[in-house]
Amino acid sequence: MNRVVIATTNPGKLREIRRILGHLPAAILSLRDFPPVAEPDETGVTFEENARLKALYYDAAVASAAAPAHGGPLCTVAEDSGLVIDALGGAPGVQSARFLGPDASYPERFEEIFRRLAAYPGAPRTARFVCALALVQGGSVIFETTGVVEGDIAAAPRGERGFGYDPIMYFPPYGRTLAEATDEEKERVGHRGQAFRRLAQWLEGRPVIS
Ligand code: IMP
Repeated sequence: MNRVVIATTNPGKLREIRRILGHLPAAILSLRDFPPVAEPDETGVTFEENARLKALYYDAAVASAAAPAHGGPLCTVAEDSGLVIDALGGAPGVQSARFLGPDASYPERFEEIFRRLAAYPGAPRTARFVCALALVQGGSVIFETTGVVEGDIAAAPRGERGFGYDPIMYFPPYGRTLAEATDEEKERVGHRGQAFRRLAQWLEGRPVIS
């Protein structure tokens, strides 16, 4: 049976990904199942580059920690995601987790986004969440995909669910922000849901990855 390592330590993401991959005939592991390793620097300028960089890095780390004799083929999936706001030239983009510094709170980030958008009163508030995913086995990228969900930056943060920028991401078909949507509603339309469902489909046809 395949062993798929999900290379994230973000509990919100891990929960969502486990729900999507849970039905596969594969052992779904996470970095917590391996000795801790330092995080790689996310030096890519695109989500795709960062996803590849993380998947290659963590695959090498888990492969050296895992006993090859136990279990089936081991592969590692990493994703890079973030919020792209058109009127801000794509910011915060690949810097989403570090926007205004790694310790800034999300309310502080929202305030700064509203402040910057106020400088362009007529500009569209269109934005999207992007999730690039890469699957690596034995040092090679064997599957890649990108999911996108389009929305608008809300006039004010709303909702308590989800995480990160969800309270300011208004999703027109629901008439609510993604922080007001249930987990299931967000997963159905979300960027990570799309990318990981495509991965699940790809894995379904490969009981043994080689
Ligand atoms: P990464 O861990 O480097 O991929 O950074 C992703 C960052 O993008 C997160 O820390 C959030 O700030 C933001 N982000 C990604 N996906 C979502 C989402 O589904 N909702 C809200 N914020 C998100």
